[in-house]
Amino acid sequence: MEDLVSKIIVANWKMNGSGEFIHSFFSTFTNSTDNRLIICPPYPYLSQVKSHGVTVGAQDCSQHTSGAFTGDIAASMLHDMGCSYVILGHSERRQYHAESNALIREKAHAALDAGLTPIICVGESRAIRESGNHIETVLNQAKESIPSGTGKFMLAYEPIWAIGTGLTASESDIAEMHTALRHLLPTTPLLYGGSVNKENAKTIMSTPDVDGVLVGGASLKPDDLMAILDFKTPLGNR
Ligand code: PGA
Repeated sequence: MEDLVSKIIVANWKMNGSGEFIHSFFSTFTNSTDNRLIICPPYPYLSQVKSHGVTVGAQDCSQHTSGAFTGDIAASMLHDMGCSYVILGHSERRQYHAESNALIREKAHAALDAGLTPIICVGESRAIRESGNHIETVLNQAKESIPSGTGKFMLAYEPIWAIGTGLTASESDIAEMHTALRHLLPTTPLLYGGSVNKENAKTIMSTPDVDGVLVGGASLKPDDLMAILDFKTPLGNR
């Protein structure tokens, strides 16, 4: 049996939440110190979430270290705020902010230089999947977006058509992609994201070469996030 104890759970809250929401979230959520959980709230709430003992990550950072870049946030500032991780190249950043693989690689270097671990996202559109070029497309995205050198990072495979749609990739789709990614990146933690919920998380986390999950919508529900965390412990081994 796959060892589910060591799986990584990244909660991507996207642009959701408020001070009041976080207060009420942590009145229910009791797994704050689980060291395999990383919550990525919007920037203004990093400190509030961290104050509950959670490992926190940001959802983006600048490729620059400082300067006249109004509205941007440097990786070193995130590190100062107590962040350990940063999601980079999420498909919503690629789509709404026209982020290229080259830019994401620059951001990954900036993150590593500041002491953050990048969580780099890749994934194909529905049209690419239907064309049958999904493996080649995602491998190219990965090759061009990951940092060069020896810096440690995670890679999240998130098929765009599965994000926020309730459509999860099938076990065989996930296994096919993760096997291909594993050949490219033998020692990198590989996460799956796209409509992960408490019903499908266990199966997904048991799929070969899946080291964890990146959870969006379901991570905003404390009971659902606790249920997903519970799956990390194999039955009979609690
Ligand atoms: P979802 O989002 O779980 O709501 O599909 C995942 C993500 O975009 O990271």
